[in-house]
Amino acid sequence: MMNKKIHFHFLPVLCMLLSVVSVKVSFAQNGDNGKNRTESVQLIPIETAHSATVFEVGKDNRLHMVYLGSKLPENKEYNQIIGQYRQGTDYSEVSDVVYPASGSQNLFEPAISVRHADGNQSLDLKFVSVQTKQMDKDIKLTEIILKDEVYPFEVHLFYKTYFATDVVETWADIMHEEKGSVRMDKFASAGLYLRGSKFWLTHYHGDWAKEMRPEQTLITHGIKTLDSKLGSRADLFQPPVFMIALGQKAREDAGKVIYGSLEWSGNFRVDLELDNLNNLRVIPGINNYASSFDLPKDSLFTTAKFLYTFSDRGQGQASRQLQRWARDNKILDGNGQRLTLLNNWESTYFDFNEDKLRSLLKDTKSLGVDLFLLDDGWFGNSYPRNNDHAGLGDWQANRKKLPNGIASLVKEATNMGVKFGIWLEPEMVNPKSDLYHQHPDWVLKQAKRPEYYFRNQLVLDLTNPAVQDFIFRIVDTLFTQNPGLAYIKWDCNAVIYNAYSLHESQQGRLYIDYVQGLYNVLKRIRAKYPKIPMMLCSGGGGRVDYGALQYFTEFWPSDNTDPLERIYMQWEYSYFYPAIATANHVTNWGKQPLKYRVDVAMMGKMGFDIPVHDLSAPDLNFCQASVVNYNKIKDIIWHGDQYRLQSPWTNDVASLMYVDRDKMHGVIFNYLVNARYGSGSHTPIKWKGLDPNRKYRIREINLYPGTTSTLKGDDVLSGDFLMTIGYNPKVDASRSSVILVADAVQS
Ligand code: DGJ
Repeated sequence: MMNKKIHFHFLPVLCMLLSVVSVKVSFAQNGDNGKNRTESVQLIPIETAHSATVFEVGKDNRLHMVYLGSKLPENKEYNQIIGQYRQGTDYSEVSDVVYPASGSQNLFEPAISVRHADGNQSLDLKFVSVQTKQMDKDIKLTEIILKDEVYPFEVHLFYKTYFATDVVETWADIMHEEKGSVRMDKFASAGLYLRGSKFWLTHYHGDWAKEMRPEQTLITHGIKTLDSKLGSRADLFQPPVFMIALGQKAREDAGKVIYGSLEWSGNFRVDLELDNLNNLRVIPGINNYASSFDLPKDSLFTTAKFLYTFSDRGQGQASRQLQRWARDNKILDGNGQRLTLLNNWESTYFDFNEDKLRSLLKDTKSLGVDLFLLDDGWFGNSYPRNNDHAGLGDWQANRKKLPNGIASLVKEATNMGVKFGIWLEPEMVNPKSDLYHQHPDWVLKQAKRPEYYFRNQLVLDLTNPAVQDFIFRIVDTLFTQNPGLAYIKWDCNAVIYNAYSLHESQQGRLYIDYVQGLYNVLKRIRAKYPKIPMMLCSGGGGRVDYGALQYFTEFWPSDNTDPLERIYMQWEYSYFYPAIATANHVTNWGKQPLKYRVDVAMMGKMGFDIPVHDLSAPDLNFCQASVVNYNKIKDIIWHGDQYRLQSPWTNDVASLMYVDRDKMHGVIFNYLVNARYGSGSHTPIKWKGLDPNRKYRIREINLYPGTTSTLKGDDVLSGDFLMTIGYNPKVDASRSSVILVADAVQS
């Protein structure tokens, strides 16, 4: 039954219709099609500490967007804004409608497109009511009800504001009481209408090992669409994060910028349309690609959440807002602790046995990290997972490699005082597996066409509750059989080819129900295992978004761990995600010295993936000392505020820092990214975020054994000096990475 499905909540819609009305505005007279909208009827400001999104109920009873920007001191002045822009044409009166629908007066990209039960394709949403609810000290929820005057069709727009961090989450509930089903052709989360002269868009593209490559472009007239149609590993070519700088190009510490992202781990679509009035319409939502579907009477469709934050103090401030919001509200255990680890993927790949793993447990202990993470290759018996051609789906330990199972390893690790984690790729199946043969109907595939594989595997049909249950049990069984298991790396290496589900009665719902199915499983896991750390991985950073991150403690940004490449990637990720969630591992990728590799990993959540037994004695000593050093500064990195100081894109030395909330301690990372022509830091680098009135003692940490710092070592300088004049870390080819610590001197 349609309304028993996850995504459509069966609700007694009748009693919802027009029931919760705190402010009601009468509908306009017939024939008043917007031309008479000369003064505002009602303003609806959605405010945070520093920003405001302002709507107006026009005389046409449509909901119009007046403004998104810095909060004005005089609330009533929002009233004056729209008059400054009004063009006086028929179409200009409706072009700023907040959630534009198709088939009526809207001439632009719609947020919603439907075909009613009687076949009519028009929708014209009028304002009914608004109500707000203070959820707690920080969070407020505003609900605006819109309704068509001809068809019993409603959209409820939600705006959840996080006051202190200036973040807004917005989404829509869509419902109707028509005599049959209504076909949904487009169902975006929101619509924003930005007035201005120039809009600079920063968006990202990528591929395996090439994640988060930024592009900045002036938005020109017409539509620019950012989207994904890949299904499961949805962000492989494009992540759902973007920023729009207003007026001029985005700058780190100045200028107006809006960051946006969809909280959805599947196909997304963001339309950015610069219209005839030079204003920008932003329509973000789940991608409607191959996803038209029928919404039955009396059921509710809830869109994905879209989040945005506005800053008039540049990208740095916007990032700090978003990072703090994510830690406080979204990422699982965002303000908690994390485990440092040794992973075996790069040092063994599929080639290991119990003895090898035992020695890796010893390496974990000797390195001093918290956890050993066993990667791919530990499972499958009829079809052993000795390469990536077989075994996915058969989640029993391989008896040849691990005759005593996972349990004995977990026990051994526990006895050593080391935690144990394990890799899973539970959404996938290799045709060479027992699972595939036992449940051919659990696989997404086109019955009449040949199977197409991505990394030799197929995607399981997560729209099917039986498959969801199977996946939950994989995790649950592992934890029940191994109570000491302390960590999961959840991988996802294939996109959805063969997009057909035997379980779905409407194929148009497949991509959406897949993601809902995944969330159902993750919700169940979190209900039973609320705090177990889990890494979100997708063949690198193929699925990083805030929809998924509410179930995960961290994500794997990329399989590319060349530290030079990582500086750029981690830099770009940091615009949207906090360091505590960004897993960086020291590997043998790249030609840089070990110290450089370790220093780069330290700027986020550090781990190792190197053959420890191959390290020379000084290298091992250095790694061990680095773990000790990291443990001393990790709290500042994980829970402090991040400031980007010098970009790797435009400087020979990249530099960024973290400052704790009390401004007592800072950690400053400096990396040489261009070693040509004697490059280095020849001038001081201005620090940020310190207390200008405090004095800080500066010291270099994480020196390689036998080397000494070229810095004096006991500099004490005021925050004011460090932020206006700066400090030179003396980076050059002989000291290509330098980590400094600044501690406030107690006066
Ligand atoms: C892709 C991940 O990104 C890697 O870290 C590793 O876990 C492999 N999958 C294992 O197949």
